[in-house]
Amino acid sequence: MRHADAYLSAVEHAPAYQLGPGKAAGLLDCPIAETGIGLDHALELIDRFVDREGIAPTSGRFTGYVPGGGLFHAALGDFLAAISNRYAGVFFASPGAVRIENQLVRWMAGLAGLPKGASGYLSAGGSGATLAAIVTARDARGISGENIPRAVVYVTEHTHHCVDKAMHIAGLGAVQRRHVAADERLRMRPEALAAAIRKDRQEGMLPWMLLLSAGTTNTGSVDPLSPLGEIAARESLWLHVDAAYGGFFLLTDEGREKLAGIEQADSVVMDPHKTLFLPYGSGALLVRDGALLKQAHRGDADYLQDTMASLDEDSPADLSPELTKHFRGLRMWLPLQVLGLAPFRAALSEKLLLARYFHAQMAASDLFEVGPTPDLSVVTFRQKGDDALNQRLVEAVQRDGRIFLSSTRLGGRFTLRMAAVCHRTHLAEIDTTIQVLHELAAKACQDRRA
Ligand SMILES: Cc1ncc(COP(=O)(O)O)c(C=O)c1O
Repeated sequence: MRHADAYLSAVEHAPAYQLGPGKAAGLLDCPIAETGIGLDHALELIDRFVDREGIAPTSGRFTGYVPGGGLFHAALGDFLAAISNRYAGVFFASPGAVRIENQLVRWMAGLAGLPKGASGYLSAGGSGATLAAIVTARDARGISGENIPRAVVYVTEHTHHCVDKAMHIAGLGAVQRRHVAADERLRMRPEALAAAIRKDRQEGMLPWMLLLSAGTTNTGSVDPLSPLGEIAARESLWLHVDAAYGGFFLLTDEGREKLAGIEQADSVVMDPHKTLFLPYGSGALLVRDGALLKQAHRGDADYLQDTMASLDEDSPADLSPELTKHFRGLRMWLPLQVLGLAPFRAALSEKLLLARYFHAQMAASDLFEVGPTPDLSVVTFRQKGDDALNQRLVEAVQRDGRIFLSSTRLGGRFTLRMAAVCHRTHLAEIDTTIQVLHELAAKACQDRRA
């Protein structure tokens, strides 16, 4: 506890990024051995080589990739789950743990507007949840054998790469990926989707699945879910919505407006380790027809015959690839129960406002140009100048360490992005980010002139 307290007390002023010369190699000087080193020495190694090296995801000045944060009550939940080591895979083994996990799934399904009968599971992250969604959609629509090369999924170039990975793992690498055109705010165009499906049908292809983003990683863009969902329904496509980043904005009025139409989905992925601020290792899959999820994941074995009888609640082991699993529900249930939903709603509304503030400040700057007004809490921008200048700016940010943000490519151009997601990111952190960016960008210009 003393170690955790010391770490958390230092977070406000600690670097958002730092890398020592050895890149944590000092850990290797202490190999796993016959005789233990004791807790104090082990904590010292964690402090020196783990907690201080690399990105600090706990920092409010970390706005790269998609931050999470890590709530204290979630850590407490993990601690308690590990202490009692409740077996959250089957209802028989721990009715309390499974009721907690299923209650959370029902709460998220309700948030997304899915009907009674929806089901799901708490995964380790968005990629695993996406894989389970694709496997469910594959089995539900009979995509196998000679159908596979004719089957088509519709995405945009901004769809998260975990979809490609999941397709490959699910044995669907030969499925056609149709990249539907996006509008100027990088959201899928409904008329382009309709045209692509029409063309595919004319050519004897098998339109199978529409993958929409409720908040892309690159830009936070939300595809127009309502009209696209209507097309999916009309064309009998499986509709999957990747709300890994954007899903919990449904807790805000503005988010509900932006994500309207998500309720039409056959499957939805939401990541509590992103916009619910939990520590890494928390994703969720929600499936409209729970029976289809179960069909795709249920297993049976003689050695489990004592555990299978319960009808009270579905068992996570029947709804996911996992059998013996971490009781990860406790890390989500505890903060939601202890704190209530109000602070989560407030924190998410704050992130939306901070992103708009950052966008406006950067748009008014002589040194920077900005991308579109953010749909959610990701803002894209560039230092005025060429790609090399922008790349040097990112490198300078990382060397400096006060803030951390990451880059991407948009339309072939090197682009910086700021993702306001961590619960510790407030106005002061955004102002520091703006100030550091200006300082380093001005220096980059001077260096170039010199
Ligand atoms: C939109 C989106 N989808 C899916 C994923 C994959 O989730 P995970 O990293 O939890 O596996 C991410 C991760 O950043 C994401 O931003």
